[in-house]
Amino acid sequence: MKRRSFLGVLGTIFGVTAFGSVAYPLLRYLGPPQAKIDAGKQSFKKADVGDAREIVFQNTPAIIINRPGKGYIALSRVCTHLGCLIDYDRKSKKLICPCHAGFFNLEGRVESGPPPKALTTFPLRVEGEDIIIG
Ligand code: FES
Repeated sequence: MKRRSFLGVLGTIFGVTAFGSVAYPLLRYLGPPQAKIDAGKQSFKKADVGDAREIVFQNTPAIIINRPGKGYIALSRVCTHLGCLIDYDRKSKKLICPCHAGFFNLEGRVESGPPPKALTTFPLRVEGEDIIIG
């Protein structure tokens, strides 16, 4: 291969690589947000949840609770006082913040302590054996 044709091939390779490195991210940016649509929902099997299961939903620590006689609910575990993570006490059926003794009921409403408002509730629906959050 002559020097001139070798440089031509090398230039073509660099050109295609440079074009691809600009075009691909641009097309991804301009395309429909496919991942966002799917990222908004999470599915769990009832058997895997049991009476309660801690999850992470949209980067937020959360918990799914099967309330006796009332069905499932999905709540944020981030306390509305100063942001500590609440725990579910299966014995008392309460959500307890270990930082300043904030107590929430199974609807996420404040029962006592310093939290100023209820826990965030996430949309949840049950389809057969699946629990779908989001
Ligand atoms: S952070 Fe939860 S009660 Fe203070």
